[in-house]
Amino acid sequence: MALLNILHFPDPRLRTVAKTVDEFDESLRQLVSDMFETMYEAPGIGLAATQVDRHIRLLTMDVSETHNQPRCLVNPEILQADGDEEMDEGCLSVPGFYEKVRRADHIRVRACDQDGTLSEFEAEGIEAVCIQHEMDHLDGKLFVDYLSNLKRNRIRSKLLKMEKQKAG
Ligand code: NI
Repeated sequence: MALLNILHFPDPRLRTVAKTVDEFDESLRQLVSDMFETMYEAPGIGLAATQVDRHIRLLTMDVSETHNQPRCLVNPEILQADGDEEMDEGCLSVPGFYEKVRRADHIRVRACDQDGTLSEFEAEGIEAVCIQHEMDHLDGKLFVDYLSNLKRNRIRSKLLKMEKQKAG
C-alpha cells in the first residue's frame, strides 16, 4: 500500500479525459487499494483516478458516517438522472474551498467493480452527488467549473499562492 500524490487545481493534468478500463488485473487492484488508503488518509469521501494522475475511468468512495463502506466504481455510467439539489461541495484537489453546486439528486448508475463484475444500482442524496462529482473528474471537470469566473479565479490564485509558499 502507498499514499498517492493528489494533484491540485489548476494543475492541467486534472483536465485529462480518462480512458475506459479494459483489464481487471493486479495493477488495477493495487491502484484501487492505494486510492482507498489515500482517500481515507486525506480524509475525503471520494477520489477519482484522475486526481492521482492515473487517467482511467475509476473512482473510489465511502459516504458512510462510519467510514467502513468502501465502494469502487470502474467505467461508471449514469443511465438516468432526476430531480435536483444544491449541496456544499469540496474536493481534495481544491483543498480548503467549499461551494454550493446544483446536481441531480437521484441517479441510476451502471458500473463494474474492481473484478469487472457489472451491476446497476440507484443512488440519492450525498451518494448521488459524490458519484456525479467523481465522474466529472474522469471527464477533466472540477466542481469549480460550476462557479462564476470571478469565484473560480479567486480560488485559483489562492491555491497558486499556497503552492508557491509550500515550494519556497
Ligand atoms: Ni473532487
